Amino acid sequence: MEWVLGIETSCDETSVAVLQGRVVRSNLVASQVELHARWGGIVPEAAARQHVERLNPILQQALDEAGISLNRIEGIAVTNRPGLVGALVVGLACAKALAFALQKPFVGVHHLEGHLYSPFLEHPERAIPFPHVALIVSGGHTELVLVRHHGHYELLGHTLDDAAGEAFDKVARLLGLGYPGGPAIDRLARQGDPQAFSFPRAWLEGSLMFSFSGLKTAVRRTVEGLKQPLDPQTIADLCASFQQAVVEVLVRKAIEGARTSGVSVLSVVGGVAANSALQTQMRQACESAGLELLIPPPRYCTDNAAMIALAGYYRLLHGERADFDLDAYANASLA
Ligand code: KG4
Ligand code: ZN
Repeated sequence: MEWVLGIETSCDETSVAVLQGRVVRSNLVASQVELHARWGGIVPEAAARQHVERLNPILQQALDEAGISLNRIEGIAVTNRPGLVGALVVGLACAKALAFALQKPFVGVHHLEGHLYSPFLEHPERAIPFPHVALIVSGGHTELVLVRHHGHYELLGHTLDDAAGEAFDKVARLLGLGYPGGPAIDRLARQGDPQAFSFPRAWLEGSLMFSFSGLKTAVRRTVEGLKQPLDPQTIADLCASFQQAVVEVLVRKAIEGARTSGVSVLSVVGGVAANSALQTQMRQACESAGLELLIPPPRYCTDNAAMIALAGYYRLLHGERADFDLDAYANASLA
């Protein structure tokens, strides 16, 4: 198994990647941000239609960039869970059609398993360090996972309400910063004072669970109590103070999860892993705790097909094969 094709259409990025072993030969991502920004959030029906329009051209482009023709592909990996079902089925139908036409195997990949593999796209010569702990922080998920081996995961903690990225997006919307909110808050927070407002941290002592909806509500109440319209410095201070409240909880719990699991490597993956304050503070905390920190470059933090292809590559190597009746699922747990 050398050449593997990856397909990701679970949410608002249409992505196709070609891997040669662990080496990324191409990874094309067509974002729908402009489409959904009009509505201030993802519209599932529009997302599915856009995947239909874009998938075939992107597939061709991914093959061209990798410099191979379709008949060189030996296996196909596709995200089939969790996500928007209408969006997932577009990628799944494409994977099945290719597998049937090429007479090659395909496997369904859990979207979060893809994120777990994202830090290992960068240095393909380095063995994947097992066991390690991964903090998955994206628009839809906040999960702390003990990664024992390929396909062997133990859930240490998860959010009880909003995902970390969802909190960023909702607070950004509240402040009129548009969609997606994470990058905007990250940027504005650099000019703000993280201590200007004291927002609550849901420590949920003694557990590795997360909760961000109280924080979001606290920001809303604070904003409602301020003179409108907000001046730019106040917005920057709100961004910095909110971001700091999220980052502190993520850092402390991730380190705690790694420590209690007895691992020496911690990875941080998903869209929110691109956050600059999270990266800086996580790096400092890992240094003090004697942990090695792995964070993928931004292009592999957000949704992409390369990470799906890598997760699928190991499943295919293991001999896993999906049937043509493989379905798409809106919800599915990783472990
Ligand atoms: O992993 P991802 O691309 O999609 C999901 O699987 O959900 O993550 C998208 C999320 C969005 O909520 C976005 O606001 C957030 O990641 N995000 C950030 C940053 N860049 C993206 N959040 C905070 N700081 C950032 N720099
Ligand atoms: Zn994702």
